[in-house]
Amino acid sequence: MSELPEIKRPLLRPRRLRTTPALRRMVAETSVEPQQLVLPVFIREGLDEPRPIGSMPGVVQHSRSSLLAAVDEAAELGLGGVMLFGIPEHKDAEGSGATDPSGVLNLAITDVVAEVGDALTVMSDLCLDEFTDHGHCGVLDAQGQVDNDRTLARYAEMALAHAAAGVDMVGPSGMMDGQVRVVREALDAAEHTDVSILAYSAKYASAFFGPFREAVDSSLQGDRRTYQQDPANAREGVREALLDVAEGADIVMVKPALAYLDVVRAVRDAVDVPVAAYNISGEYAMVEAAAAHGWIDREAAILETLTSIRRAGADVVLTYWAAEAARLLRR
Ligand code: PBG
Repeated sequence: MSELPEIKRPLLRPRRLRTTPALRRMVAETSVEPQQLVLPVFIREGLDEPRPIGSMPGVVQHSRSSLLAAVDEAAELGLGGVMLFGIPEHKDAEGSGATDPSGVLNLAITDVVAEVGDALTVMSDLCLDEFTDHGHCGVLDAQGQVDNDRTLARYAEMALAHAAAGVDMVGPSGMMDGQVRVVREALDAAEHTDVSILAYSAKYASAFFGPFREAVDSSLQGDRRTYQQDPANAREGVREALLDVAEGADIVMVKPALAYLDVVRAVRDAVDVPVAAYNISGEYAMVEAAAAHGWIDREAAILETLTSIRRAGADVVLTYWAAEAARLLRR
């Protein structure tokens, strides 16, 4: 039997700061607060009752009245805002429902602003994919490719429709080059100088968007790889964010969040505006599915997920758990 070497007692004991909940809370470097969270909500034209989204358990396509109940709750919980997505009854090649003043999203903006007033920041997804029959984020050219510059004109019109409906902040999410500038110029020219822009700056062509396709009844065939970014590229995400700041973005966003936390950090370090991250549908579905099997502790996984996104540098987090997380944080 060989002798054990003399066991040295540790000189330094980081565990000391982990002894009690009060101490852990006091030295926590990162917090998640309800006002940092934004709840994305879907409203579908023609619904009398909310309709569940199978791949996103707990998330629904709202009717007009269930939407108002959801935003009331969001305001009561002290969330930062809501991001509205509209699903029209009829889709066409140009996405005309997007710019129709009585289109589903434009009506929803007016409804929600009338309901919550200044208690929430009311945001709108500024993109054509929910409204086009081909499911792409823009209009197509003769070859069936997304036509960047013709799409910009549609985005400018859409921004004006949202602003006329009373939106606080528009979220251009189509990844067209120059979209932030045309939206800013269109808003300013119409004296909507107070409407701010949350730019989906670094948006990746991600498999994790899967459940969202069901959420908006998307008719997309194929993928968005000619306009959304390659998951391999982090520097390019920073470049996109810097361009958007230069074009007038008030907040820049990285999306998805979890597989791109390095990009969140890099963007946070590169820009001087608030950074948002979108904890997207597939990230939500993964946790919900594992929890439904009893494989992970659902509530702990939710708070750990949101904490990780904040720790990576996001000032604002868009998450389908926003209301639930606010309730958990109250405890
Ligand atoms: C575009 C848009 C998408 C999402 C938000 N805005 C879909 C896409 O770009 O493919 C995805 C959100 C999610 O997956 O939770 N309108």
